[in-house]
Amino acid sequence: MFKRATIVLMLIVFGTVIIALSGCEEKKAPTVISLDKGWLFHPGDNLEFAKPEYNDSSWKSIGVYEPWEKQGYPRLNGFAWYRTKVVIPSSIRDEADLKDSLIVKLGKIDDFDQVFFNGVLIGENLQNVKPGTKPANDFKDLKNSYWNEQRRYSLPLKSGLIKWDNTNVIAVRVFDWGGAGGIFAGELSIGMQSYKDYVKIIYNNGDFKSFGKQFEKKIVVKNISKNYTIEGEFSVNVVDNITDKKLYEKEVPMSLPPKGKNYFSFTFDKPKESAKVEYEFEFKNDEEKIITEGVPYILTPPVKETPQINGALVYGERINKPFLYRIAATGKRPLKFSAEGLPEGLTLNANTGIITGKVSKAGKYEVKISVKNTLGTDTKTLEIVIGNKLALTPPMGWNSWNCWGLSVSQKKVYDAAKAFVNTGLADHGWTYINIDDGWEIPGNSKKPKRKRNGEILTNEKFPDMQKLGKDIHALGLKFGIYSSPGPLTCGGYTASYGHELQDAKTFAKWGIDYLKYDLCSYRKMMKDQNSVEELMPPYIKMHKALMKINRDIVYSLCEYGNGKVWEWGEKVGGNLWRTTGDIWDDWNRLYQIGFGQAGLEKYAGPGHWNDPDMLVLGWVGWGPNLHRTRLTPDEQYTHMSLWALLSAPLLLGNDLTKLDDFTLNLITNDEVIAIDQDKLGKQASRVFNKDSIQIWKKPLADGTTAVGIFNTSVKNNDFVLDLVGLGFSWEVILRDVWKQKNIGVFAHTYPCRIPAHGVKLLKIIKK
Ligand code: GLA
Repeated sequence: MFKRATIVLMLIVFGTVIIALSGCEEKKAPTVISLDKGWLFHPGDNLEFAKPEYNDSSWKSIGVYEPWEKQGYPRLNGFAWYRTKVVIPSSIRDEADLKDSLIVKLGKIDDFDQVFFNGVLIGENLQNVKPGTKPANDFKDLKNSYWNEQRRYSLPLKSGLIKWDNTNVIAVRVFDWGGAGGIFAGELSIGMQSYKDYVKIIYNNGDFKSFGKQFEKKIVVKNISKNYTIEGEFSVNVVDNITDKKLYEKEVPMSLPPKGKNYFSFTFDKPKESAKVEYEFEFKNDEEKIITEGVPYILTPPVKETPQINGALVYGERINKPFLYRIAATGKRPLKFSAEGLPEGLTLNANTGIITGKVSKAGKYEVKISVKNTLGTDTKTLEIVIGNKLALTPPMGWNSWNCWGLSVSQKKVYDAAKAFVNTGLADHGWTYINIDDGWEIPGNSKKPKRKRNGEILTNEKFPDMQKLGKDIHALGLKFGIYSSPGPLTCGGYTASYGHELQDAKTFAKWGIDYLKYDLCSYRKMMKDQNSVEELMPPYIKMHKALMKINRDIVYSLCEYGNGKVWEWGEKVGGNLWRTTGDIWDDWNRLYQIGFGQAGLEKYAGPGHWNDPDMLVLGWVGWGPNLHRTRLTPDEQYTHMSLWALLSAPLLLGNDLTKLDDFTLNLITNDEVIAIDQDKLGKQASRVFNKDSIQIWKKPLADGTTAVGIFNTSVKNNDFVLDLVGLGFSWEVILRDVWKQKNIGVFAHTYPCRIPAHGVKLLKIIKK
């Protein structure tokens, strides 16, 4: 450890004065210049905008932490430009150890970008280009969107493009396919490239190989420079976040020739709770590069072999509509199901637990359901409510968007349905299999979009929607689809405008049970996208159509929370409504969306739910190429716990054919799911928010209270829960919901350690 060694040596020789000196020594002039302010914006396209001398004085200012839709350009798709001017002091070059290149970071850009530095194209869509390369005219041939990727371009000093101590102009040409657009998140800065930038520690985000009680991890440390040998010390530490114990430590000298790499593998005991790996490269010049990653840890005990009924215990349908309910139950197969008190018209398949039929009389039916195997029987009461309300608990299922994006196909959807059954997910209450955008004919295709009679057509990836519906129902699962009140969907596919009733009828013919109705292109027809008067009619129109068909279809409004949809979503017939823009697998986004739900609790209840968007656990990717979620294991526990407390619809968005033990554990904890599916349907409220700790509290139907203590900071936190402040002035039993274990009896306080970005999910049981 070079730096530490130097400091210790100096201490011995000169005493404490040197500590202060060594502190001063580190305070160099800033070597990185922020680019997060001072941007100007112009919709449309003109390559003249790239030129430094172009007069942009009439352009409007724009922020770079929100898409342009949120900043006065609600209907803009296609091209737009950003420009900024920046003085780059020569001191950053003079003080740098390496004098090769500038690194230009431009945040995340939705969808495509070309970056011009003093009029010259230096990078496009994540790739550096040789200065002088001609920009492509448009981005229309591109297959994958780069909307969620940080842009980072390197600009060699020898290009001669940089005007030191002078004004430089950066112009970014952006093309947005649809939905949100522009520079909207990430890091925006300019700085000199340093040794740090040349060393890559490739740790395959989350890929820990399991060998019995141990994990094995293989990583590669790479020098990507062509010219420098990089020397230093490389260390790996695995630390338990709860006990601070080191589970593994190793330090090795490392010398990496130009383009060289070193493999490093290590093995350690699987942690019982939260843990992290710290990879550190200390360079000879005292620079250091530190990367940390979370280690997966499983808290949920394995599924028991004795029978257990899971999932929602209240279920609503309308009179005389096709009824389908699959009793979710775990336990050693074969299981035998039985029911007492089923309303007339319904029958239960004793082998599958699937209840089907039609009920012609409204009412509340208390049905005693039992499930039996060689090891025992479990019995619970299922309340079937035949009336006018659906979704009496938040819908639980899967949606194709967060993994497959527009590359969804009939096969992928049916694979997800089969996986629900094969992996046992359906036995924990996961029910809906929903197709998102991408099943229709693209709006710009030459092919007919509808039959001659106006009936909407599917594209070639969905050869037989009716069959898909039948196949999904045969598994006891429900089938969902997606459309838009505008002429086109967000992905530019054909939508329902002018065909609402006809589409509702077609959906009924296909056996659809759930419709996500996404505003998107309808915005073009609105004057003000936040006007409630303009937002309500298209949703009412589709609701009326859904009321005319002979099926129950859960109605999911998707308009990103505009016009405070929670205040009127139920009035237009919505069973759930998105309260925010799209989610992605990044802590900041999760934080913004999840913890941003505070205050909305009064709008949620049985039949009408706030929807903070889908889950980003497991393998996700919004297109054909998937990656493991970029949330750490602790962040994933937070995601699932918060969504359950929020009574949020639980829609998985991952490739279900690629489920690892950790992800499966996260989504099959029946006590966590039961919090979400609780019959009372009360969304949690935030009751404490101080020093990066947030406490959310949700009353449950059995008289107990679910409480989530969230640590939103990057440091582990030793927290003392004030039970009295929470309303429990006498002894209570605390249950750790993830471990499904009572912790003990507590009065007044409960001390606990919450890992960085992690959670403690408790159930408080009055004694
Ligand atoms: C919007 C929605 C997403 C998804 C896409 C499909 O962005 O918010 O959830 O449905 O459209 O194009």
